[in-house]
Amino acid sequence: MIGIFDSGIGGLTVVNALRQRLPDCDLLYFGDTACGPYGDKSAATVLQNTVNKIENLLACGAGIIVIACHTSSSVAWDIIRSRFDVPVFEVITPAVEFALQISRYGRIGVIGTRTTIASGVYAKRIGELNPAAKVHAIACPLLVSLAQEGWLRSPITSMIVKKYLYPLKVKQIDTLILGCNYFPLFKRTIQAKIGSRVQLVDPAVTLVDPLARYLQENTAGSSRLANRKSLRLMVSDITEQVEKSAQLILKQKISLEHMPKRIKTENY
Ligand code: DGL
Repeated sequence: MIGIFDSGIGGLTVVNALRQRLPDCDLLYFGDTACGPYGDKSAATVLQNTVNKIENLLACGAGIIVIACHTSSSVAWDIIRSRFDVPVFEVITPAVEFALQISRYGRIGVIGTRTTIASGVYAKRIGELNPAAKVHAIACPLLVSLAQEGWLRSPITSMIVKKYLYPLKVKQIDTLILGCNYFPLFKRTIQAKIGSRVQLVDPAVTLVDPLARYLQENTAGSSRLANRKSLRLMVSDITEQVEKSAQLILKQKISLEHMPKRIKTENY
């Protein structure tokens, strides 16, 4: 079973991408709706919540972990990778590799939450792979609230997207990484505002390649996936709005379960 972790329900865009390319996999989704959104929280708080919830996900039987949250991936990946003895996939590295592959002039824009952008993770990884590339990163926190509100195509959303993207337009970026799992929901508006010559990178999509490769190469790994084509959705707090937003992203009727409570949590 593949365990997918997110700070809330934006990670369902990753579930959509996984179901499209790997329809046979058995998925268990964990959204930390009680503590999220993480995007404006300190790195220490994000790390603590992420590690504790991933321990919980493993206790529920996940054999592979996908960190669908960019904010968690940006501050917690190194610790999670070294701490847990299961394959861990995150959204940042495949997106960076793909962006560098397709970028014509090495002028790459990144948009994400405040904590993701403040971590500097995208600039760091891009710089490691191509020191000549120029990275321009902008935090777009309001887009998280707009997505949660379901305002995907409203004129207000277009105005806000335009304002956020203006500095990236001025820098003449040629590639833009959508560095928050809600942002693919605004793809059309983002493309219209940044211009058709800028190539968008959707990390939910680029994540699937390394995961599919891993599953193909590791029969032991895939046997742990159970192949029941099931999707269980667990969150740490169930509200009507969370349910509505989840349905909007998955485009189907869903039923949410409460994440099991852990008796013991550790400090990191
Ligand atoms: N999951 C977060 C991310 O992808 C977005 C929502 C939040 O702020 O927690 O960065």
